[in-house]
Amino acid sequence: MKNHTRIVHAGSHPEEHQGAVNPPVYHVSTVTYPTVQAMHEAERHPYDGMRYGRFGTPTSFAFEEAVCALEGGYRSISTASGLAAITATLAALLSAGDHLLMVDSTYGPSRRFCDQHLARWGVTTTYYDPKIGGGIAALIRPETKLVYVEAPGSHTFEMQDIPAIAAAAHAAGALVVMDNTWATPLFFPALSKGVDVSIHAATKFIVGHSDAMLGVITCADERLWKKIKMAVTASGSCAGADEVYLGLRGLRTLGVRLRQHQESGLRLAQWLEGRPEVTRVLHPALPSDPGHALWKRDFSGACGLFALELAPCSEAAVAAMLDGLSYFALGYSWGGFESLILPSDREIVRTAMPWKTAGKMLRIHTGLEDPDDLIADLEAGLARLTAAIG
Ligand SMILES: Cc1ncc(COP(=O)(O)O)c(C=O)c1O
Repeated sequence: MKNHTRIVHAGSHPEEHQGAVNPPVYHVSTVTYPTVQAMHEAERHPYDGMRYGRFGTPTSFAFEEAVCALEGGYRSISTASGLAAITATLAALLSAGDHLLMVDSTYGPSRRFCDQHLARWGVTTTYYDPKIGGGIAALIRPETKLVYVEAPGSHTFEMQDIPAIAAAAHAAGALVVMDNTWATPLFFPALSKGVDVSIHAATKFIVGHSDAMLGVITCADERLWKKIKMAVTASGSCAGADEVYLGLRGLRTLGVRLRQHQESGLRLAQWLEGRPEVTRVLHPALPSDPGHALWKRDFSGACGLFALELAPCSEAAVAAMLDGLSYFALGYSWGGFESLILPSDREIVRTAMPWKTAGKMLRIHTGLEDPDDLIADLEAGLARLTAAIG
């Protein structure tokens, strides 16, 4: 079965729901038992079937089954947000005295969790250059338990050689966890490339409509799944009933939406590359991108999120460009149907390798509007920028 077929049918059990194509939304906290024996029986299988709202419902099980089928894992776990998926995974797999190797280009709040929380709990974090590849072996210590990867970084878009990093990590007995949100389960088969735990901020492309917070974690084996499921249940970071339903609904159309995000995103990126106001475009699917060879080798597609560096200009000129846009809204998120733009310099924090640019950075999420309209909007914006420079 091809993935575009799997995405439509995985986790679908109409026979369990009186023929309904989609599972009902189980709004539930309390689950009751007919007998004491039934209650004790349920305790023996805490994560299968209904036990209490926090442990999962048929709606969350259907979403998890569908994502897991796409990821090719042992089992998936839904969470209250993408960040909850990341923090629960790190909390489940790391203990006091352990060492974490964290990619320097990681999503800001993931970095803050390491610095502000894991540090207090006795876990040491070393940030590494995303381009390190197999060279990561030199940073691995006896107490290194986990190597965290994210490719491309969601602001600077460096690719990572994930198979090489995973080989080095596994040779030293360390696990590999990936934030795979950019590629979605369709464009990067993380587990088959050596990743042990693949995480998605389903809030982005999977939900796809900017109306729900949701995360999902897929584990390569039962041992990892049990540890992380226990952490999610124990910390209370389970997904909400409506959110998990929206995740499953979004997943069904992810394939067609992504085709359009990819096509329009590339058109915008190529158009921007030819503009004199733009110094460079950071998009791994462009042949000019330093990570293009890795992207081409390992990924089967690109979403519509990328960045660009403007020729040096003032903040006021950037504001003149962005404030007057008609279709690109100013917003921090991505993955929804609507286009977004973000002045992104402040989001880039680096400690392993300095990030140096002469010009200001913008991040673009290409939505589902007609790309001709989006290009016309950017063209008018760049004209305002040039006029503001004077
Ligand atoms: C790359 C990446 N990972 C994780 C997250 C966190 O997802 P959420 O906002 O659902 O917590 C985000 C959110 O912007 C993100 O961009």
